[in-house]
Amino acid sequence: MKALNMKLEDKSYDIHIKNGSVQRDLLKRLCITDDHVVLTDQNIHTIYGALFEGYNVIKIPAGEASKNIETYQSVVNQMIAKGITRNGVVIAIGGGVVGDLAGFVAATYMRGIKWVQIPTSLLAMVDSSVGGKVGINLEAGKNLVGAFYQPEAVYIDPEFLQTLPTREFSNGMAEVIKYGLGFDEVLFNKLEHYDKIDVMQDIEDIVKSCCAIKVNLVMVDERDTGIRSLLNFGHTIGHAVEHYYHYEKYLHGEGVAIGMAAMAKIAQEKGNLSMQAFKRVIKLIRKFDLPICLDDDRDKMSIQVVLEAVKVDKKIGHGGITWIALKRIGALEVSKGTLESTLVSFAGGLYANAKL
Ligand code: GLY
Repeated sequence: MKALNMKLEDKSYDIHIKNGSVQRDLLKRLCITDDHVVLTDQNIHTIYGALFEGYNVIKIPAGEASKNIETYQSVVNQMIAKGITRNGVVIAIGGGVVGDLAGFVAATYMRGIKWVQIPTSLLAMVDSSVGGKVGINLEAGKNLVGAFYQPEAVYIDPEFLQTLPTREFSNGMAEVIKYGLGFDEVLFNKLEHYDKIDVMQDIEDIVKSCCAIKVNLVMVDERDTGIRSLLNFGHTIGHAVEHYYHYEKYLHGEGVAIGMAAMAKIAQEKGNLSMQAFKRVIKLIRKFDLPICLDDDRDKMSIQVVLEAVKVDKKIGHGGITWIALKRIGALEVSKGTLESTLVSFAGGLYANAKL
């Protein structure tokens, strides 16, 4: 399969997508001298142990809690102890946490060294490994310290997904659905015709379709000041849900699924989506075991509280909010409203879906 090329003003690089492409000989080609580190997490290291033998490996504990300043400092100290120079390279093998942290280490170690991304989760393959957003979390919030720092290359091997836990696979499918629903009606139709199991047969093509959409947006708006924000479809409510439950109850994709379902309801009420199209959206989200609303009575009661959390989303400016609305299946539009009208609208979407 031909690589996708990310052409940016300062740098161009390829995104390679191929089943079975990440083998030891790929690492051998990437780590031509000892001046390298392979950064991964404990889980990936345990499952794919042989892949790492003989390389300078740094392991971090699996999970979002590792995307912090202490782990960052520990990784940098280990790199100094290993004698990694400014000509060195960081190879990130893991999900979004490993990729974001490794990229931030690469962006800052000796004022910036080369790095390569090898994503192992579906979410990382279709979203976080593409586009150069790197960073760490602070106590005050997620991704509050970071950079735009593009890798030398991205190697996506969908065979890693064979060992991904089912819930994590669904987590990534939420972003895949986002690309179909928001940007590509053909992809949406294709997803509708799979059952949950046989989607894996075509996963290489599906991942490629998603990455191609993201590459095209990043190429025109690398710094996320305009059109790249369309990728945030479903994310304002999604982030609020994640934040409200302290990132413990809902995974990122689950929050986004709830957000997309609410946006679909709002679009249906506005007349942008027919009732039949709205039902197709809900059916597709449910097919991949993703939620369409908060999931118990106590949660339904707390929708107002979740909406309060929307206010802390960093995309909300003074006096108003810009959010990404559904125009039809396969197309999005930017919507603007006062904070109050937006919250009323979001609440309408969430309440209506809670009754489905
Ligand atoms: N995850 C959204 C972006 O990279 O812009």
